[in-house]
Amino acid sequence: MALVTSKEMFAKALNSDYAIGAFNVNNMEIIQGIVDAAKIENAPLILQVSAGARKYAKPVYLLKLVEAAIEDSGLDIVLHLDHGEDFDICKKCIDDGFTSVMIDGSKYPFEENVALTKRVVEYAHEKGVVVEAELGRLAGVEDNINVDSRSATFTDPDEAAEFVEKTGVDSLAIAIGTSHGAYKFKGDPYLDFERLQKIRELIPNTPLVLHGASTVLPEFVELCNKYGGNIPGAKGVPEEMIRTAANYGICKVNIDTDLRLAMTAEIRKILFENPSEFDPRKYLGPGRNAIQRMVQHKIKNVLGASNKR
Ligand code: G3H
Ligand code: 13P
Ligand code: ZN
Repeated sequence: MALVTSKEMFAKALNSDYAIGAFNVNNMEIIQGIVDAAKIENAPLILQVSAGARKYAKPVYLLKLVEAAIEDSGLDIVLHLDHGEDFDICKKCIDDGFTSVMIDGSKYPFEENVALTKRVVEYAHEKGVVVEAELGRLAGVEDNINVDSRSATFTDPDEAAEFVEKTGVDSLAIAIGTSHGAYKFKGDPYLDFERLQKIRELIPNTPLVLHGASTVLPEFVELCNKYGGNIPGAKGVPEEMIRTAANYGICKVNIDTDLRLAMTAEIRKILFENPSEFDPRKYLGPGRNAIQRMVQHKIKNVLGASNKR
């Protein structure tokens, strides 16, 4: 049991039909819910930390909580920086003991993204840490762009091949129609699977990553709205599309919004039904259980990663 890189996990997942769940963590209850689920399902696990999570919880707390989870569960876990925006945050996380970092240069022109990614790859590889980069841009309905200009932001397969060749990056996040948050599609959900297959053909040995992969499960949206929330029209990526993506070569599936919704729905319900309750354990505990159930469902029924550890 240790903090491990994703090298072996990805090598196993690369030519198979399952994907590894990468879940965003911000506090103890979220970490415990996810790790307990992975343990029960005997599944490979990536925990990821954003800059916002580092700011919220303080880096040292998250690191120590993940170390505690490893000790408690006996699992090997990848600790990954999600959406590192510059060299400095990647370096900090590598120096702190993260085993994987993402450098997100997707907002830069191609050659700038290459140069930035290459710099992080050189530093990370020297320390035995793996690197994820992103090419193409994730845009959702919140970005107010129409369907045609949305697909113009998708990852170009030839560029993806050139990018991997030039940077030596370990895995690549691609844009095929997903986006972050709870409002991913206005009309019918659409992912460009043809593009995914083309990318896969050109770089068959590079694990591909799907960001913005939450399903925004209707049951949680309904519970939130029923118990005082206001998130109308929330829509995510249907579970069968995530399964298809895993079949077509996506190795890592990023999930944050579904964790937020599962926990919030449960807490809203409890506080609504028990207005006199003010012991945080009485709602954070069930919130943690809700996360565990949801993550178990994902691992087993959507990612197909049960018993793949
Ligand atoms: O991709 C974004 C993740 O959901 C992290 O979100 O920056 O609010 O922590 P955050
Ligand atoms: P969701 O907002 O769909 O959960 O995506 C999370 C993500 O991509 C984290 O990097
Ligand atoms: Zn993301």
